[in-house]
Amino acid sequence: MATLIDGKAFAATVRNKVGQAVSALKAEHDLLPGLAVVLVGDDPASQVYVRNKGKQTLETGMQSFEHRLADTTTEEELLHLIEQLNHDARVHGILVQLPLPAQIDSHAVINSINPDKDVDGFHLVNVGRLATGAPGLVPCTPLGCMMLLKNQIDDLTGANAVIVGRSNIVGKPMGALLMAQHCTVTTAHSRTRELPSVCREADILVAAVGRAQMISGDWIKPGAVVIDVGINRIEGEGGKTRLVGDVDFASAAEVAGAITPVPGGVGPMTIACLLRNTVQAACAANGIAFSLD
Ligand code: GUN
Repeated sequence: MATLIDGKAFAATVRNKVGQAVSALKAEHDLLPGLAVVLVGDDPASQVYVRNKGKQTLETGMQSFEHRLADTTTEEELLHLIEQLNHDARVHGILVQLPLPAQIDSHAVINSINPDKDVDGFHLVNVGRLATGAPGLVPCTPLGCMMLLKNQIDDLTGANAVIVGRSNIVGKPMGALLMAQHCTVTTAHSRTRELPSVCREADILVAAVGRAQMISGDWIKPGAVVIDVGINRIEGEGGKTRLVGDVDFASAAEVAGAITPVPGGVGPMTIACLLRNTVQAACAANGIAFSLD
């Protein structure tokens, strides 16, 4: 049976370290890190995320700014708000919750954020920094996956890493992070030929394809470390919905060396990394060396 990778517990330790860093910044530098979260519209899932972000930001001692805008908001209005946040010295991190309503061009909005406040790491400047190995802000979910992996494996050098999924939010940045750790990286996706046999080559398998329980135990190399980024709602017993990953957990856990569960694996790491990125941005803005170790 595989070792269970407890992302929930790991995220709690990251939040504790963030809280300690925030206390030290206040005491030693009179600096209070601040995160602004912008929600446009009333998508129920986004509302839950935004509430949790605000709550956890306050719990670590940081300042939280929430901006909730109507779903009829124009792109110009949103760009105007971001311009204000870019110039607000109390705000070190800006996150615009995605998806945005159809009348707003998400790319234009993301790229209007000051890259040094872009705690999502989605701005083209941060994408370029990550791709070229320059310091910058790294997208939260792949950063969380990387922390879990490094906690599991001392040295990733030379490992075969297969990512299933090529999104800008997870798959592509995950590839860059794994390459930076000297892995041999394959980015596969739903249209990859012979996908099961590609996955079977993986010492590290990252599932971020968005298809419920697609990856079963017979796709997994014995002893591999499996990181499941998927969050899919399926109908369970008695008509109740339940959350499952992109990996079929029961069969995969019989073959893998270690595996993240859903829920309680990668999910909790995302907000923890957002808080971490906010501290990083606050330190960088004030010329303070940053480390959370
Ligand atoms: N919506 C779903 N995931 C994310 C994320 O990581 N960042 C933002 N801003 N919106 C999201």
